[in-house]
Amino acid sequence: MNSPAMQGLNLNTPTYVKNANLIAWVAEMAALCKPAQVYWCDGSQEEYDRLCAELVAAGTFKKLNPAKRSNSYLACSDPSDVARVEDRTFICSALKENAGPTNNWMAPAQMRATLNPLFDGCMAGRTMYVVPFSMGPLGSHISHIGIELTDSAYVAVNQKIMTRMGKAVFEVLGADGAFVPCMHTVGAPLAAGQKDATSWPCNPSTKYIVHFPETREIWSYGSGYGGNALLGKKCFALRIASNMGRAAANETQGSQGWLAEHMLILGVTNPEGKKYHVAAAFPSACGKTNFSMLVPPAAFGGWKVTTIGDDIAWIKPHTDGKMYAINPEAGYFGVAPGTNLLTNPNCMLSLNKDVIFTNVALTDDGDVWWEGMEKDTGALPAHLIDWQGKDWTPQIAKETGAKAAHPNARFTVAATNNPALDPAWDDPAGVPIDAFMFGGRRSTTVPLVTQARSWTEGVYMAATMGSETTAAASGAQGVVRRDPFAMLPFCGYNMSDYFQHWLDTGAQVQAAGHQLPAMFCVNWFRKGEDGKFVWPGYGDNMRVLKWMIDRIEGKAQGQETLFGVAPTYAEITWTGLDFSATQFQTVTSIDKAAWQAEFKLHDEHFSQLSYHLPKALMDTKANLQARLAA
Ligand code: GTP
Ligand code: SPV
Ligand code: MN
Repeated sequence: MNSPAMQGLNLNTPTYVKNANLIAWVAEMAALCKPAQVYWCDGSQEEYDRLCAELVAAGTFKKLNPAKRSNSYLACSDPSDVARVEDRTFICSALKENAGPTNNWMAPAQMRATLNPLFDGCMAGRTMYVVPFSMGPLGSHISHIGIELTDSAYVAVNQKIMTRMGKAVFEVLGADGAFVPCMHTVGAPLAAGQKDATSWPCNPSTKYIVHFPETREIWSYGSGYGGNALLGKKCFALRIASNMGRAAANETQGSQGWLAEHMLILGVTNPEGKKYHVAAAFPSACGKTNFSMLVPPAAFGGWKVTTIGDDIAWIKPHTDGKMYAINPEAGYFGVAPGTNLLTNPNCMLSLNKDVIFTNVALTDDGDVWWEGMEKDTGALPAHLIDWQGKDWTPQIAKETGAKAAHPNARFTVAATNNPALDPAWDDPAGVPIDAFMFGGRRSTTVPLVTQARSWTEGVYMAATMGSETTAAASGAQGVVRRDPFAMLPFCGYNMSDYFQHWLDTGAQVQAAGHQLPAMFCVNWFRKGEDGKFVWPGYGDNMRVLKWMIDRIEGKAQGQETLFGVAPTYAEITWTGLDFSATQFQTVTSIDKAAWQAEFKLHDEHFSQLSYHLPKALMDTKANLQARLAA
């Protein structure tokens, strides 16, 4: 090996780091990436403040006006680096079938041969940060450790907020503990003496987000944004963890697998003080953060919703027969546009201090702004600097349609900033799940809420769920993209095997004589003939949540429909909302012709997934179609 010592590079390994595999790996990666220096993050506040100051000096961060947003920063990315890159994301399992038809695949050896020259010298002129983090509470039996090597200080400070990051991780890791190695580079090496020409170094033409499921490695090249770069999130906590959870089921005869899901987790407490826990899978930008911080309408006095997580859940069946969920993250990387005191007051209150904003607009008094905030202030600001550094005025916006904030602009904030944070959010044991919810963005066909009649029917609902993508630029109506379990871009193995894993996990719990969580399909997004959402959504989603709890408690009888058990108009609490039986009909009706067309789409979806598709799902479809025909 071309050792860094031979190149004269000091690895600066702290004396408290005892893990020989880790030390050897850092040495090997330093030799490959050839950074100017290596820095081990300790996760301290002093370190965070120092790195942020360095980012300000480099022009990546602007410090916001402390009188407006204390200890907060704004970063604006390269216009080419604003979101996850699904077409550059790969699952490199040994066998192509194990990545399945929904993932990009390349043979591991071929991918390594592609990545190796890209990573060779990729960190030249930069610092390699060693970022130790725990996904889940430190030391919890559900948690796992990752080490991210990155040449981005932006990533290091974001990871401090998004994960349990720092020195304590090395104690848990000990001399021989296991970790997921996460390699990250912005892919913009600097020649000797060269300075960055931009405040957001990245590689505009070459990006790779690569996962090796068998060896549990992540390699990310060329992007500094969100899920591409904060490797604990989608890469580890979903794509690699979904593999871990399934492999756990196959380790020994009868051993218990677990689930890594794109789900929020919330607690809901009724006026009598009885508490339930719900985990909900909605695709990206479909309302998870919103729902996890829901403020019940005034008419629901005594009801309380508390947040355990807003994006990812790791769920394990326990010997007591319940499924326990933890939020592996420690912060929120949430969508800013559309967030305001009306839609999500708890979120707005979370953002008063200690926030990193990315790709929102800057106000003239050093604060941030995004589309939707005018609902709070009653007016558009007269002047802004938009996310691309250009002047923005209401007039310019009107003429050119320019957005002040990028539609995928985000905030990074610690969970502890959330006034609705659940006291058990950090509990290593997790919280017992009483209900699962699945919901996409559908302007037609899918009703407001129905309950699955069985675990298998619930898996069917989740497996066939879809969402409309809106072509943001043209404002054109989106087409329906099937997004099973909201996991289409995140399932790290063959999707049909993933369906089977859900069926098996349910069957195991049931076989042990326990009751499974209830399962619901929801859709907040049905539109009327005027093209507007009919259901008010946001806080009013409490009305649906309460009906679900009434179902669990046996208080609501519901009515059989084609697609599960639905509420009657009378079963929903309407106090404080003017919503007629006719409007209710608009969001709950099941249109026979639309469902015939929908099942055709399910057919197409299932034929794409035919390899290893569980027979139980085909049987369920036949059953539903027979109901429709009857
Ligand atoms: P990711 O972080 O990408 O996984 O997104 P998310 O699922 O957490 O979505 P988020 O809560 O950030 O909401 C995204 C968008 O959906 C925002 O523009 C919200 O205003 C909108 N939204 C959220 N809840 C509702 C709802 O109940 N009704 C309607 N009509 N829109 C909603
Ligand atoms: C999502 O796209 O579902 C997100 C944002 O939560 S990112 O972290 O960029 O994946
Ligand atoms: Mn997400």
